[in-house]
Amino acid sequence: MSLYPWKENYSVEIESIDNDHKHLFEIINQLFDAISHGNARENLSEFIFQLLDYTKNHFKREENYFAMTNYPETLEHKLQHEFFIDKIETLKKQFDSGDQQISVRLMTFLSDWLINHILVSDKKYMAHLKKNGLS
Ligand code: FEO
Repeated sequence: MSLYPWKENYSVEIESIDNDHKHLFEIINQLFDAISHGNARENLSEFIFQLLDYTKNHFKREENYFAMTNYPETLEHKLQHEFFIDKIETLKKQFDSGDQQISVRLMTFLSDWLINHILVSDKKYMAHLKKNGLS
């Protein structure tokens, strides 16, 4: 069973974005599994790489949709994306320098940030993007 299962109320009703979010939850759940089975150290670097790579592409997709539709809260939303990437890159540097406690901080940050970001900030653009023809 996943620690952080996808829930229907996370949906922004735009298929490509929901699919990205579902995949981000899968990465977080894989990371949690690795930590709980004691092999996080070996897998963490790969998970952080996947997470950064996938998240950057996801943020680009959203930001392209904002540009296409003149989303009025683009700047505020992009700042949240930048904060997330900076935070994960900082955690990665700490991990690379040998910090063994990073996995718990990473999980706490990821689960809090991702769920709150989707439920609050991403939900905010839903009506705007749908009104502009995205589905
Ligand atoms: Fe789905 Fe704004 O991240």
